[in-house]
Amino acid sequence: MCGIVGYVGSRAAMPILMAGLGQLEYRGYDSAGVALQRKGAIDVIKACGRLSALQAALPKRSSATTGIGHTRWATHGEPNERNAHPHTDAAGKLALVHNGIVENAAELRRHLEGKGVTFRSETDSEVLAALISGEFERDGDLLAATQRALVRVVGTYGIALMHEDLPGEIVAARNGSPVIVGVGDHEMFLASDAAALAPYTRQVVYLEDGEVVRLKARSYEVQDFHAIVAERAPATIDIEATLASSGEHAHFTLKEMHEQPQTLARLMSGRLDERFSTAHFGGLNLSAKELMGFKRIKLLGCGSALISADIGARTIERLARIPADAESAAEFRYRNPIIDPDTLYFAVSQSGETYDTLAAVQEVQRKGGTVLGVVNVVGSSIARQCGAGIYLHAGPEVAVVSTKTFASTLAAFTLFALYLGRMRDLSPAEGARVIAALQALPEHVQRLVDRADEFEAVAKRYAGYDRAYFVGRGEGFGLAREGALKLKEISYIHAEAYPASELKHGPLALIDPQTPTFAIVPKDDLVAKNASTIAEIRTRKGPVVAICHEGALDETVEDRIEVPALHPAVDPILLLIPLQFIAYHAALARGCDVDKPRNLAKSVTVE
Ligand code: AGP
Repeated sequence: MCGIVGYVGSRAAMPILMAGLGQLEYRGYDSAGVALQRKGAIDVIKACGRLSALQAALPKRSSATTGIGHTRWATHGEPNERNAHPHTDAAGKLALVHNGIVENAAELRRHLEGKGVTFRSETDSEVLAALISGEFERDGDLLAATQRALVRVVGTYGIALMHEDLPGEIVAARNGSPVIVGVGDHEMFLASDAAALAPYTRQVVYLEDGEVVRLKARSYEVQDFHAIVAERAPATIDIEATLASSGEHAHFTLKEMHEQPQTLARLMSGRLDERFSTAHFGGLNLSAKELMGFKRIKLLGCGSALISADIGARTIERLARIPADAESAAEFRYRNPIIDPDTLYFAVSQSGETYDTLAAVQEVQRKGGTVLGVVNVVGSSIARQCGAGIYLHAGPEVAVVSTKTFASTLAAFTLFALYLGRMRDLSPAEGARVIAALQALPEHVQRLVDRADEFEAVAKRYAGYDRAYFVGRGEGFGLAREGALKLKEISYIHAEAYPASELKHGPLALIDPQTPTFAIVPKDDLVAKNASTIAEIRTRKGPVVAICHEGALDETVEDRIEVPALHPAVDPILLLIPLQFIAYHAALARGCDVDKPRNLAKSVTVE
């Protein structure tokens, strides 16, 4: 949520900040702003709405060579220009951008108001600006003022600030929200995501929680909040320099769905071992003996990551015959979980920045548990916090909805289940069948992607409905959850997922001709049960769209999408593809902004 950028050097700051914000707009897009520092003056320019509105409000040229910028996802205060960042102190001399939530903002605000401070916005961020400004008046040292102020702040933040009295200096701090310094040649950059730094430098310093940095063109100085200096050498990042445009595709969502045959192939590249019918991972940092010592597996994540974890847990149980389950990272971290040393934990997050998932990782580690990351963004907070795990290598996912990273996460867990299964009871013959299915997967996904017109036609038939059910059993229920989440996120159709077995325990009351049901029907032991559920729905005149395996279903349905079956450990990925296209085309038919759905952001770095 929210993206922050900064620049100090000798180049014009404004275009660099705007390019950085362009890379970070996925983090929030309800308003944006920059603070530009010419010698001795700070100009703040803000606009409500997308970055294009800010671009239109900017001067043609600016001689400023220092600046900070922000793209916002509103938490405190509705999206408008007043609440947009940067925020300034009362004198307009200190400008600050903030990503996160200050939990004791109300208390700090009351305290500052008591001292005569007047606030212009409803944000918690303006409170930070006023608090640091008050401290700055004591000694004119922005780094020290920030340290003194932040020890009084409860909450999460990545902040960047500058002061009119200190041209050519930016101070930034981190607690829970990412802040990355890009070290250039006589210039320094700052961003919430390393991708925004990649066009300028590969040398980066990741601030840790409780650290503050002072940037000048030729130096960076990292300290903790108590002024203890931290020696931090830059790390070299290997990251794509630009977020490519959506190219020939109308949207990033569509582009990313089309990329899935390649991203799945990339995930598997070098990880399949046909000789021993198993898989290999470079970064688990656990010996076979250590892995064999675990008695359970628990997967943690939020949103689509949680759903992929749930399907992944079933695949692990299926192939490795070890108890596995998935839980919302947000729920887990707050229930004082019992951390079992015999349980191997996984944190699943495409962005690697989801705050609740990061906090769950810290909870596991604090209690002595072992946790591995399944993450797409290299060097992200969760990847670094776990220190080991599986990278998805799916390339940047720009659209707010997870598509290719969801598919890659499912495949990653199939590989892991194969690896663990082959250490346990999975036979070489069955391992070989899983490998064959995995190898055939990209081509079969491509064939499904090529059937986009068929899925579009189905989507258009149902885009006018206000609500829908998604049902399935086993992994099919996981897919139902994902199909419903995708549809509601981007088309705003109310979509509810239910285990098919549970429908008759209540939701059947809502089935009528205006309530279509999308039924996921693999050709498995439960196919007859799913056929009965479909019959029960159709008896109540509910239209049914079956996403099923070829030849699985004899039942009459309103629409049928048939998908080939390869192996139960990879079939969820094939059944997923039509669901993605249905959500995309339903959203388009309803005139929705598919890549940037309302109220959402790609990276959820607040609680
Ligand atoms: C998926 O379409 C959603 N945008 C959302 O549920 C997402 O999966 C969730 O916020 C977790 O994100 P992460 O994978 O980056 O941790």
